[in-house]
Amino acid sequence: MFGPRRARQTAASVLAGAAAAATALLAAPTASAAPQPIVGGTATTTAAYPFVVQITDAAGSQFCGGTLVAAKKVVTAAHCMAGETTGSVRVVGGRTRLDGTDGTVSRVGRIWVNPDYRDATQGDDVAVLTLSTAMPYKPVSYVSSTQTNVYAAGTTARILGWGTTSENGTSANQLRTATVPVVSDSGCRSSYGADYVQSDMVCAGYSSGGVDTCQGDSGGPLLIGGVLAGITSWGEGCAEAGYPGVYTRLTTFSDQVTAQVDS
Ligand code: ARG
Repeated sequence: MFGPRRARQTAASVLAGAAAAATALLAAPTASAAPQPIVGGTATTTAAYPFVVQITDAAGSQFCGGTLVAAKKVVTAAHCMAGETTGSVRVVGGRTRLDGTDGTVSRVGRIWVNPDYRDATQGDDVAVLTLSTAMPYKPVSYVSSTQTNVYAAGTTARILGWGTTSENGTSANQLRTATVPVVSDSGCRSSYGADYVQSDMVCAGYSSGGVDTCQGDSGGPLLIGGVLAGITSWGEGCAEAGYPGVYTRLTTFSDQVTAQVDS
């Protein structure tokens, strides 16, 4: 039941997921009712966060987020690239709204997916895209492998994306953002048990729920102190009490990311 809800679901799997989520809600007396818009956030712009990019299909339909870490390099989630090829995806920078036509669209010349990746709940959920066209937007820096102190429990982290604004809801047309506290490893383990792979993941969210990333936010940034420190990966439902969002623990992968950024 702790499987990630993927951004690219078929209509049938969306319905199956909705039924499963309804069951989970009935089984969880502490689940918060009707979370608000990301869930619990506010609208923002790519002018405010120029390094946040949309990942779309060839037709321009957004299905994941990503983060520009160099003019031609985007960090995203490995699970976002499942079934994708360099020809099937585009990266859109500088476009605040999903229905906009502004900004810069780039093709992808190369997709690196962490070779150990199997499933988001098993960790290793990181990918780096090499763009065909340089993005004229300021990239953001990412954590180095030694900066593991950024994940101290209670630290404020910022999440961003165009994902759904409620569990089983519809996507936000405009980029949204919110802040959530980092959750301790023991807290995350009590929520997710063995699916929480401490070396590869970090949780963030309020114990009462209400604020979270959701479907379609995957691949997008978790910023701590203005630096990319995590990648939206998975969670049980969205914004449910007792189930924080799970993010890729980027310090574990920063050397691998650097190898891709430099290549
Ligand atoms: N797997 C989702 C996606 O592909 C992200 C889910 C995040 N869930 C959460 N509760 N924080 O967009």
